[in-house]
Amino acid sequence: MRKTVGWQAGRSGSRLRRTSLERRELRADDVAVRVDYCGVCHTDLHAVRAHAGDVPLVPGHEFTGVVTDIGPEVTRFAPGDRVAVGNIVDSCGVCAMCQAGQENFCHEFPTLTYAGTDRYDGTTTLGAYSREYIVRDEFTYPLPTGLDPAAAAPLLCAGITVWEPLQALGVGPSSRVAVAGLGGLGHLAVKLAVALGADTTVVSRSDGKAGDARRLGGHDLIVSTDRRRMAAARDRFDVVIDTIAVPHDIAPYLGLVALNGTLSHLGHLGTITVRTTDLLIGRKKLSSAGSGGRPATAAMLEFCAQHNVVADVELLPSARVNDALDRLERNDVRYRFVLNMSDLS
Ligand SMILES: NC(=O)c1ccc[n+]([C@@H]2O[C@H](COP(=O)([O-])OP(=O)(O)OC[C@H]3O[C@@H](n4cnc5c(N)ncnc54)[C@H](OP(=O)(O)O)[C@@H]3O)[C@@H](O)[C@H]2O)c1
Ligand SMILES: [Zn+2]
Ligand SMILES: [Zn+2]
Repeated sequence: MRKTVGWQAGRSGSRLRRTSLERRELRADDVAVRVDYCGVCHTDLHAVRAHAGDVPLVPGHEFTGVVTDIGPEVTRFAPGDRVAVGNIVDSCGVCAMCQAGQENFCHEFPTLTYAGTDRYDGTTTLGAYSREYIVRDEFTYPLPTGLDPAAAAPLLCAGITVWEPLQALGVGPSSRVAVAGLGGLGHLAVKLAVALGADTTVVSRSDGKAGDARRLGGHDLIVSTDRRRMAAARDRFDVVIDTIAVPHDIAPYLGLVALNGTLSHLGHLGTITVRTTDLLIGRKKLSSAGSGGRPATAAMLEFCAQHNVVADVELLPSARVNDALDRLERNDVRYRFVLNMSDLS
């Protein structure tokens, strides 16, 4: 086994601790990546807070770094290449979803970057809050030149998660898009929708982020608790991207959806209650999305390089990971923490 170092969660509520970790030896199609930057996703926070302590938990599933070693069958990468890796690291490769380039929906469930099960040895995957990650070449993406590696890291979970629905729902220059929840996913949804040419509005709990909404290219911010503004925006948006991190009533957000439009509910994953009439009136559609297939991930990275889209990040030494999680919990981040892993060397 290869030795590395990372930040491991203890039982629910306890602090992450610096620990030595083991990674597998390189398989024929594996790439060894020195992790330089890893984003702190709200999913990491959910995982750490819910962790029962039964299996090791090392979060981290949006990272960039440099290839340090390759297996004998790897032809797409060489040591020294700048790369990016997201929240899935393997899939069956043969089911209809994999064949369609939607490895994120693999019928055998894709292998998650952390807290997943390795398809070959059955071990629990350990994430990228660590100095080294071993990953199949197919799930490793060249990081386009021009993209800053720290600010690009969040594209690999937050970015692709909002990119796939924006693409699948045909968002372009004539679209009106609302983004509910201006956090890590939300601010990238705004930047991507704006770059696609859409008229984009933010829906947030207060007007405290109104200046940011405009700076990000949005044309308006609606306060979700302002019933008058919400009513005035009724049926206005072709696409509503809901990235809110907690359970909530989706009725007010369905109200914003235009005739034949779609609400993509992708922030809080779980059971929701929907009144059929909220869909019936206006023939509205309810959808969701998560992560992305390999073709869409590569396309998203190219689009971001062309349009200069990266996350607004606050870069912290990885030793401040517990601070980052606490502040994320308090919504005290504009708009993504990224951990600099060099302090693990
Ligand atoms: N579908 C997927 O595959 C996928 C992938 C990644 C993440 N996620 C999930 O997406 C969610 C967002 O992740 P993130 O990293 O963007 O989180 P984040 O940076 O914390 O942003 C979440 C936003 O939700 C809003 N919010 C938070 N608490 C709220 C509350 N109590 N009531 C109403 N709104 C609240 C806030 O927006 P305002 O301040 O503007 O109101 C906040 O900025 C998380 O639940 C995460 O697990 C899903
Ligand atoms: Zn994530
Ligand atoms: Zn599959």
